[in-house]
Amino acid sequence: MGDPLTAESLALLKLYIEWGADEAIESTPQSRLGATAAPIAPARSQASAPSGLSEARRLPAAPPQSPAAPRPAAPRIDLRKLGPMDQAAIESARDFARNAQSLEELQAALTRYDGVSLRKTATNLVFADGNPKAEIMLVGEAPGADEDRQGLPFVGVSGQLLDRMMAAIGYDRTTFYITNVCFWRPPGNRKPTEAELAAQQPFVLRHIELVRPKVLVLVGGSSAQMLLGTTEGITRLRGKWFDYRSDGLDQPIPALPIFHPAYLLRQPELKREAWRDLVKLRVRLDALGA
Ligand code: URA
Repeated sequence: MGDPLTAESLALLKLYIEWGADEAIESTPQSRLGATAAPIAPARSQASAPSGLSEARRLPAAPPQSPAAPRPAAPRIDLRKLGPMDQAAIESARDFARNAQSLEELQAALTRYDGVSLRKTATNLVFADGNPKAEIMLVGEAPGADEDRQGLPFVGVSGQLLDRMMAAIGYDRTTFYITNVCFWRPPGNRKPTEAELAAQQPFVLRHIELVRPKVLVLVGGSSAQMLLGTTEGITRLRGKWFDYRSDGLDQPIPALPIFHPAYLLRQPELKREAWRDLVKLRVRLDALGA
């Protein structure tokens, strides 16, 4: 019989080690933080779980879950700073978004909407990828060059890292849904401006309402700030659970901000914290039966 470790499982082990999950783990989970760890259920990926990983899949213990901090529903961007043209673009976006009754209609509405000049320099609208029926929805910042070319979010280097991060807790694009707060690539990969984000925000909020995930993962500062209505930086927000609310939702959705994978590529020493956030996510998903 050959070695039961496949290339996929070796890659996963390498990620665990690279990310600081490098301690020998006993047969019962041990909390290093004084909390009783919830056992981690098997992988959710529809792809078969890597073989030979039963020990490695036992993730480090997570700290107790902090209660979700309530946040007010929209407005989430300070609209008072914007000029009349921008206000008109937002009004029009609200009409387009409100009338969309399905994801297909929302995508079609974005295709017609001309309130964001980014669409003129972009090659493609980047709407979403993954499983729209999934219980986890990831929301990132804005497409880069690879995403713009392919018309799909998170397909470049940082997207590949994000996929590996999610795979490490047992999820892939058949079991999560992924989008951005900005649907067109900003030229030169600059940050989207407040006005550009404000004009797209009604579509983002409607997108979440239509998917209605059980859990939101806010990937990076722009996403966390828009959707939580805060100016606090990602370093302070990450790893804490918030209640995401919007007028079109009958109940809040637990939302977890995490470091953006592009940031982790520049600051690899933050991967330990990022790993803890992933564990926190998996524990919460298990508790929700998601
Ligand atoms: N970074 C993002 O935030 N989104 C993408 O789609 C790609 C890179």
